[in-house]
Amino acid sequence: MRVHLGSDHAAIDLRRELAAAVAAFGHEVASETGPSAASESVDYPDVAVAVSGRVKADPGSLGLLVCGTGQGMAMAANKQAGIRAAVVMDPFSAAMAREHNDANVLCLGARVVGVELAKVLLRTFLDARFAGGRHARRVEKLEPGG
Ligand code: RB5
Repeated sequence: MRVHLGSDHAAIDLRRELAAAVAAFGHEVASETGPSAASESVDYPDVAVAVSGRVKADPGSLGLLVCGTGQGMAMAANKQAGIRAAVVMDPFSAAMAREHNDANVLCLGARVVGVELAKVLLRTFLDARFAGGRHARRVEKLEPGG
């Protein structure tokens, strides 16, 4: 799976840990967007929109957005057509976001979850597959005008 990563200044360390984890799990870091130092303050919607665009331009890929809480990234990403971003804090939700909601962007909060839990959530998300069937009809209705 190709994964497009992004973070703001609040989550640089987690972004780096998860970039290494993506590779360790046998997946590919397709792009990494965000500041290189915590002192480099950026606006999370700019990162979310950039990463969302990369996911949309790369069919079959997934996005991973991390900020302080994951919430702002998800709000910004979910305004982009074709993006279904899920803020996740537990493994069950990480799996269901893929299996039932066909989420294509995982959002995590660096100030909410520890690094090891974040890795479990990421791995669970990457390993899960959309179940299709009745869920496909519902996911279609998530689009604007759906
Ligand atoms: C930055 O301080 C913080 O607001 C941001 O990382 C994120 O938590 C927003 O949702």
